[in-house]
Amino acid sequence: MQASPAVQTFNLTRLYGDMVALNNLDLTVNRADLFGFIGSNGAGKTTTLRILATFLAPSGGRAEVLGHDVVRDADAVRHLIGYMPDFFGVYKDMEVTEYLDFFGACYKIPSAQREKTVNDVLELVGLAEKKGAIIGALSRGMQQRLGLARVLIHDPKVLLLDEPASGLDPRARIEMMAILQELQRLGKTIIISSHILSELETLCNRVAIIEKGRLIYAGPVQGVRDQMTTGRVVWVRVAGDPQQAAALLRARPEVTSVDEADGRLKVALASHDTDHSIVAEVLVRGGARLIELREDELGLEEVFLRVTKGETQ
Ligand SMILES: Nc1ncnc2c1ncn2[C@@H]1O[C@H](COP(=O)(O)OP(=O)(O)OP(=O)(O)O)[C@@H](O)[C@H]1O
Ligand SMILES: [Mg+2]
Repeated sequence: MQASPAVQTFNLTRLYGDMVALNNLDLTVNRADLFGFIGSNGAGKTTTLRILATFLAPSGGRAEVLGHDVVRDADAVRHLIGYMPDFFGVYKDMEVTEYLDFFGACYKIPSAQREKTVNDVLELVGLAEKKGAIIGALSRGMQQRLGLARVLIHDPKVLLLDEPASGLDPRARIEMMAILQELQRLGKTIIISSHILSELETLCNRVAIIEKGRLIYAGPVQGVRDQMTTGRVVWVRVAGDPQQAAALLRARPEVTSVDEADGRLKVALASHDTDHSIVAEVLVRGGARLIELREDELGLEEVFLRVTKGETQ
């Protein structure tokens, strides 16, 4: 029998009153994935993660963590997951080790083992030097890493991290990402939510994008750009009459539209597979003098905005 995926949802639906926050969401996260869960504000990320973390009941459909149903088998699920909410309080007057020892006790880790466990997780998140520090005196990035240490204390197999990098400066963000990569290397399955697609571009092996509670993309990061953009855009500048050049281009079936802007031509090609050298060829053959030709690389963020505004749907 094939091992079950780390996390799977089936028609997962959640209503708040009349409002549909999650709408028949089907997600599959494989074991040892570092999985990006992306959507703009209100898309349903926190709702999904709270259901997976057994804190919120679905209104319809179901979800499994390592084969355990999150409703019927909630106790088993709680031991398998480490859930880091988007907002969590830390006890500011406590010392770092005291705090982690407290959570270790909650998970019934025997006291003889706890010291080692606490040291191990502090090492993992790069806070070994801050053992005796008062939590309130730690920087935001360190407190965030302490939050991560807390969810690692019972050695969970699946991590559910709700925007763990939000509010961090670029350096702290990079540190957080490096820790997540290390955790993936150790065999953890990690779901990390964010509203910034490009933040997860180099980190995650797979992503899902949701909007208004619906799944709009799931797969490799690179696939987002390929699947969500139709055609290509090439900018050209010619010496002489741009209208004449535009007419040459418009006569070609590969070209869907030509617009003039600031003395340049914006040429849209019908398919992503069309090689943009076709544009140069048409112009040169037609006797136009080409000065500049540049392909418009759609940034991931731009693709994301288009996707979530429904422009490509
Ligand atoms: N307790 C609640 N009561 C009523 N509506 C809620 C509740 N929690 C969430 N919602 C609504 O459900 C939808 C999804 O919210 P959710 O918090 O899951 O989104 P999100 O993707 O995490 O957004 P954000 O990026 O802002 O954290 C939103 O429209 C939100 O207003
Ligand atoms: Mg949220």
